Amino acid sequence: MDRIRIVGGHRLNGTIPISGAKNATLPLMIASLLTDEPLILENVPRLADVILLQRILGNHGVDLMIAGKRADTDPNSGRTIHLSAKQIVDTTAPYDMVSRMRASFWVVAPLLARMGEAKVSLPGGCAIGTRPVDLLIMALEKLGADIEIESGYVVAQAKRGLRGGRIEFPKVTVGGTHVALMAAALARGTTEIENAAREPEVSDVADCLNKMGAKISGAGTSRIVVEGVEKLHGATHSVLPDRIETGTYAMAVAMTGGDVVLQNARPELLMTALDVIRKAGATVTSTNEGIRIARNGSGIEPVEVTTEPFPGFPTDLQAQLMALVTRAKGTSHITETIFENRFMHVQELARLGARIRLYGDTATIEGVSRLRGAPVMATDLRASVSLVIAALAAEGETMVNRVYHLDRGFEKLEAKLNACGAQIERLSA
Ligand code: EPU
Repeated sequence: MDRIRIVGGHRLNGTIPISGAKNATLPLMIASLLTDEPLILENVPRLADVILLQRILGNHGVDLMIAGKRADTDPNSGRTIHLSAKQIVDTTAPYDMVSRMRASFWVVAPLLARMGEAKVSLPGGCAIGTRPVDLLIMALEKLGADIEIESGYVVAQAKRGLRGGRIEFPKVTVGGTHVALMAAALARGTTEIENAAREPEVSDVADCLNKMGAKISGAGTSRIVVEGVEKLHGATHSVLPDRIETGTYAMAVAMTGGDVVLQNARPELLMTALDVIRKAGATVTSTNEGIRIARNGSGIEPVEVTTEPFPGFPTDLQAQLMALVTRAKGTSHITETIFENRFMHVQELARLGARIRLYGDTATIEGVSRLRGAPVMATDLRASVSLVIAALAAEGETMVNRVYHLDRGFEKLEAKLNACGAQIERLSA
């Protein structure tokens, strides 16, 4: 297994290009199952999760073509992929695939909507919590699906097609909203989705579906209305920039000090997080290129933050923020309300010298003046990158083990940080 070696203490200066969003790319790729015409996605990041989903979709019959690059293309721009689900050859998504990437469970919606049947393995728990799919199943039942759980599989049928209905989510769910949108797009009649997730990735998927001929209004608000259509067609869509990658590098710069432009980043996708980073003592400015983030001289201020669905502070930046305030001039409190077990980074940050106590869903972080490098390992994507952030500011060497977590969600992490003066290298096994 690869490891990443970081020697801390270097300020970050320069430019970091922000990639297309992982959490929009995955549902957009899945949406290709809704039509027999090609869906062309631009600005797709090179990530392990994307490659895994390509394989999963291939199983269902999706042909994938990755467009080549011309010599004059910006090497930092994402890839363009063509997905063509002309014929669905298999409506089953097996356990060994779904258990490796939870988002692949979402194929249940387009398979059911287009083929009238789907058999998809329950994904099981994961490092950040139990993560049930009861609300996704509820949404499909509201659209007329018959659903049974058999030997660990969700077996869904709608022999005469799905029909519009009213779906009211008792809790905001991103995956539930994606599933509801994809299923409702091809259902007969109108669907109302109440308490829908307002995450920008949901709006991006809705935009793409509308380009494919769907009739969706209200995406980005908590009430979405979908007029079902009989058929969707091909389209071309460019994936929006990754707000979590943006916030992650912003926190890295706030941590080390320095001055970096996050190219292609869009501030409106992470206003709450940028406000928190400002409160922590960094200067954040919007520029023509993206977002400029700098911290020169001043120390890191403590913060009080609670994770919330969009537009609140994202759970996917909680671990990175915690890394940042390990060196604050005072005590911070961070409360996690989205996932019940998303504190696996706490013990590892402690190995670098952080002082963190956990009471239920709240972490109390007493800032320390210095962190020291150590070997660490992590159990999920965002926890891993929080260790990288801490290591960038720690004295001496940190070895981050289980790097495959990082490869799932951060494109060219070492290259992007190295280009700004960090000392970080990958050691291949
Ligand atoms: N929930 C239920 N029942 C359900 C579905 C969700 O109780 O049927 C609960 C979850 O257990 C959780 C809450 O609702 O407590 C929110 O979960 P949500 O469904 O919104 O999460 P998700 O769709 O599984 C996506 C992202 C996550 C991100 C969350 C929250 C993708 C591929 N994943 O997951 O991203 O943390 O929304 O914003 O979009 C990551 O990228 O590292 C990551 C974990």
